[in-house]
Amino acid sequence: MKIIVIGATGTIGKEIVRNMEERHAVIKVGNKQGDFQVDIKSSQSIAKLFDTVGKVDAIISVCGNLHFGPLHEMTADDFNIGLQDKLLGQVNLALVGQHYLNNGGSITLSSGIVSTQPIVGGANATCVNAAIEGFVLGASIELKNNQRINAVCPSVVTESLSTYGPFFPGYESVSVTRVAKAYQRSIEGPLNGEIFKVW
Ligand SMILES: NC(=O)c1ccc[n+]([C@@H]2O[C@H](COP(=O)([O-])OP(=O)(O)OC[C@H]3O[C@@H](n4cnc5c(N)ncnc54)[C@H](OP(=O)(O)O)[C@@H]3O)[C@@H](O)[C@H]2O)c1
Repeated sequence: MKIIVIGATGTIGKEIVRNMEERHAVIKVGNKQGDFQVDIKSSQSIAKLFDTVGKVDAIISVCGNLHFGPLHEMTADDFNIGLQDKLLGQVNLALVGQHYLNNGGSITLSSGIVSTQPIVGGANATCVNAAIEGFVLGASIELKNNQRINAVCPSVVTESLSTYGPFFPGYESVSVTRVAKAYQRSIEGPLNGEIFKVW
């Protein structure tokens, strides 16, 4: 398969690439690094990316920024960070990407455990991750040509604990290897409209 990974240079993305490259041709996309660059906040940038790489068999989105901070200080502008970046950015990758997906191809987006298990300072993250899962459910019944769409919903990743650990007291972290296998299941397996929880 020809697989495009957006967020390929990140903590989870690098392991997805390592796993997928054993069996598939992988196009690695980052914001500043990678074979190609994209800004998922820009429709123009996404369209240019797909025009450049052409048709693919799988699209993996493993990127997206959020706002973390106390609710009593949060503004609409703060909240909009996650809406424009992780939510609309990933949704737009799917909206544009469906037209560049071969028959039987798949789209895999990324949510996260806070979609259903909130953390302090994470109202934006909970909303955005839940919305991604909602989009996957809704889109899964409408894709054409046997295309599929799923999301991977990881707990905090062990390799990211130095950054995110304090936000997740008492949460079991998961290895990046386990998380990457959920993306593999989404791409190489048959499921559609599935939220692969890894925790
Ligand atoms: N790490 C965790 O513990 C964890 C847990 C649950 C869910 N998640 C979710 O999993 C996804 C990946 O997390 P991660 O920790 O692997 O991220 P990460 O290490 O911060 O890597 C982010 C990746 O996204 C790319 N990127 C950044 N801004 C972008 C933009 N505007 N447009 C396109 N690409 C952009 C980066 O490219 P450059 O390297 O070129 O800048 C990099 O490849 C995120 O959606 C995150 O919310 C992570």
